[in-house]
Amino acid sequence: MIFGTYLIDGKPAPGSSVPRAARPLLNNGYAPDKSDMREGDRFGALEKLFDAGTIQLLSERGVAEGWHCLEVGAGRGSIAAWLSEGVGPTGRVIATDINTRFLDTLQRPNLEVRRHNIVTDPLPEDEFDLVHVRLVLMHLPERDAVLGHLIKGISPISRGVS
Ligand SMILES: C[S@@+](CC[C@H](N)C(=O)[O-])C[C@H]1O[C@@H](n2cnc3c(N)ncnc32)[C@H](O)[C@@H]1O
Repeated sequence: MIFGTYLIDGKPAPGSSVPRAARPLLNNGYAPDKSDMREGDRFGALEKLFDAGTIQLLSERGVAEGWHCLEVGAGRGSIAAWLSEGVGPTGRVIATDINTRFLDTLQRPNLEVRRHNIVTDPLPEDEFDLVHVRLVLMHLPERDAVLGHLIKGISPISRGVS
């Protein structure tokens, strides 16, 4: 996989060669080419690879009717869609991404798609029952601070952290 394989803190790992497809990541941590039509296919491949395990983990956390969930860097939105089913009409899911191009077609009454940069934009505090982020923090040099913000987003009576 390209992700995390060649880069350490945004720089090539010692001795590693950086393939052409990974070079845009060197610009500012995570900067995929918006015009690259392969991006959707790449995210689709990630979903195929990771969704089963993610869904098992989230199921074990007890995602249930009425939960308020945040999915950060939602990509193509497969997990946001799954959460939306799980929390039902009384629950709510916010799916964020710095680029929502693959999320804009996800139209469900309990799902809000929000263009949001997790590094620079504020997040509500003490609000979510579950905050989920997958394959995003590894690209962000500010990951420690971001993780702190994500934790603050979880309700004090939180029922799940992933
Ligand atoms: C490798 S994809 C993973 C997508 C999805 N989480 C998944 O696992 O299928 C990384 C996603 O993070 C988003 N992203 C990158 N930097 C971000 C930032 N600063 N704030 C919000 N989203 C970001 C990208 O636009 C992309 O959709």
